[in-house]
Amino acid sequence: MIPSLWRQHVLPFTLLAGLLAAATLAGDYLLHRLDLVWVGRYLGIPGTLLIVGSLVYSLRKRKFIASGNPKSLLTLHEFGAWLGSLLVLIHAGIHFNAILPWLATAAMGVNVISGMVGKLLLDRARGHVQGQREHYQLRGLSRPEVEQAVFWDAVTLDAMTRWRKVHIPIFVVFAVTALGHIASIFLFWGWL
Ligand code: HEM
Repeated sequence: MIPSLWRQHVLPFTLLAGLLAAATLAGDYLLHRLDLVWVGRYLGIPGTLLIVGSLVYSLRKRKFIASGNPKSLLTLHEFGAWLGSLLVLIHAGIHFNAILPWLATAAMGVNVISGMVGKLLLDRARGHVQGQREHYQLRGLSRPEVEQAVFWDAVTLDAMTRWRKVHIPIFVVFAVTALGHIASIFLFWGWL
């Protein structure tokens, strides 16, 4: 039996997203247990810095800067954005006073998931579906039979491609709402 797209690719992705959720809950729990909830208020700063730092990759990709190995910068982008999001999620905790920062957090969540879809899944998934098509063709199936056999995987792949396209527009929403939240906190703290 040929392993399905779900088990080979979507499941590992789900685990990484689940790890983000589990680490958030564990971090929030520890801060509360150790009476360090105030630390969480400041975790927004390193989290934001990590996310901003991870954008060096985007500057390199769009040729705003000329130096730096794109491949290592991409690894840095993925790792920095994932860890930064974790810190920001712990920072957000389960406090509900304001709407704007929660809009920012929702946009960040969609952003990090669409990034993981693009990176972790898309290329390998394309290869997987292509490999399956070839496999069935070699077994002598007709074209419609091949398309029938890969139908659900092709549908999954199509959904993933759409999801990936959301990455940049949602980043803009994230950046604007996060900046609004940060500026209002800095005004409140008298840092602006
Ligand atoms: C320089 C970076 C940041 C600083 C200094 C900062 C600071 C703060 C502070 C002081 C609070 C507490 C407000 C209160 O008690 O009412 C807060 C709450 C919060 N922040 Fe941030 N933050 C930063 C970045 C972010 C980012 C990037 C996000 C989301 C993407 C975010 C999401 C939240 C959320 C969801 C809350 C809870 C709001 C609520 O109580 O309803 N923060 N932040």
